[in-house]
Amino acid sequence: MSLFFQGETMEVMIGGAKLELVEGDITRQDVDAIVNAANSSLLGGGGVDGAIHRAGGPRILEECRQLGGCPAGEARLTTGGNLKARYVIHTVGPIYQGGGQREAQLLTSCYRESLKLATAKGLNSVAFPAISTGAYGYPLAEAARIALKTVMDYLVQHPQIKLVRFVLFGAAAYEAYEQALRELLRVFPGAREQ
Ligand code: APR
Repeated sequence: MSLFFQGETMEVMIGGAKLELVEGDITRQDVDAIVNAANSSLLGGGGVDGAIHRAGGPRILEECRQLGGCPAGEARLTTGGNLKARYVIHTVGPIYQGGGQREAQLLTSCYRESLKLATAKGLNSVAFPAISTGAYGYPLAEAARIALKTVMDYLVQHPQIKLVRFVLFGAAAYEAYEQALRELLRVFPGAREQ
């Protein structure tokens, strides 16, 4: 496993894949697919949903309209429109209500189902925002741990995915993810020693 710190980025090799943390704007990422933290209507909203539709243009919403919504924990794929990313994977995170409504299972499913869609489409690189940690109120530290653990477990079993980048909006989110990643690396069997 190699750790590479460069200011507000962190990289870890897991299996044959690279897992990256960066601070920035997900709409600017040059990857095969970016993941949208959508709502179950898939008809747009604020936060990262609003940013992706603004940057990607109307073709994304036109395709979303054909999909007839998406239940929490599931994922749907559309064109990336005008984005650098060819595709947008829309996933619907849980609304945090204290932790007793299967929120952890649903959030885990968002990451896993998004990666399963990317794998099925033959994609190699995916960027995620911090799903559910904004309007949906999921506590950042716990959401970061779920996000990273789910993705790390998936990467060990699915070598086709070569890059997963977590794009964190602001220093607080970045630091929460970096802390969670450091803790996971201490106990994660899949990280490759280099
Ligand atoms: N790039 C990366 N991350 C971003 C960006 C961006 N351009 N804009 C916001 N974020 C971050 C937020 O800071 C937060 O950490 O994305 C994370 C998720 O926040 P939200 O976008 O509020 O998403 P979520 O908490 O999952 O709530 C989803 O909000 O926008 C509506 O339609 C959406 O109803 C749905 C709900």
